[in-house]
Amino acid sequence: MKIEVRYFSRGGNTKKLAEAIAKAVGAEAKTVSEPLTEDVDILFLGSSPYAFDVDDEVKKFISGIDVRVGKTANFSTSASLRSTKRYVEKLLAEKNIPMADAEFSCPGSFLFLHKGRPNGADLKAAADFAKNITK
Ligand SMILES: Cc1cc2nc3c(=O)[nH]c(=O)nc-3n(C[C@H](O)[C@H](O)[C@H](O)COP(=O)(O)O)c2cc1C
Repeated sequence: MKIEVRYFSRGGNTKKLAEAIAKAVGAEAKTVSEPLTEDVDILFLGSSPYAFDVDDEVKKFISGIDVRVGKTANFSTSASLRSTKRYVEKLLAEKNIPMADAEFSCPGSFLFLHKGRPNGADLKAAADFAKNITK
C-alpha cells in the first residue's frame, strides 16, 4: 500500500501530528511544497485553520494533484476545536478526490490557549488513528 503524508504548519503544531502519523505508518512527513509524484492509496493531509480557512499553500498543493489518490485522511490542529476538514473536503471534491469520513483533530496552542498541545496523548491518538485508517 502506497501511503504519503503531507502537511502545512506555520507554528509547528500540525508538524508534530504529521511526524507521529508518518512514523506510525512507515512513511515520511513532507510539507505541501513537495507534490505527489506517483499514485497513492492513502494521503494523510494535515493543516490548520488560519482566519477561518486553510493556507494558500494547502490550496496550491491540492489543485496541483495530478496523480490518482485512493483516499485522503484529514488531520489538523486548531484553537477553536473546529477542524479543517470542511475546507479541505471542498477543495478535494473539486478534483474528485475522495476523503475519508474519519479524521484526526486536536487543540493546537495559540496565544494563551491550549498550552503544550498537541501533547504526548494527542500524538499517540494521532498514531492510532493513522494505523486504523491503513488497516
Ligand atoms: C494568524 C492566525 C489565525 C488563526 N485563525 C484560526 C481560526 O480561524 N480558527 C482556529 O480554530 N484557529 C486559528 N488559529 C490557531 C491555529 O489554527 C492553531 O494554533 C494551530 O494549531 C496552528 O497550527 P501550526 O502550528 O501547525 O501552524 C490561528 C492562528 C494564527 C497564528
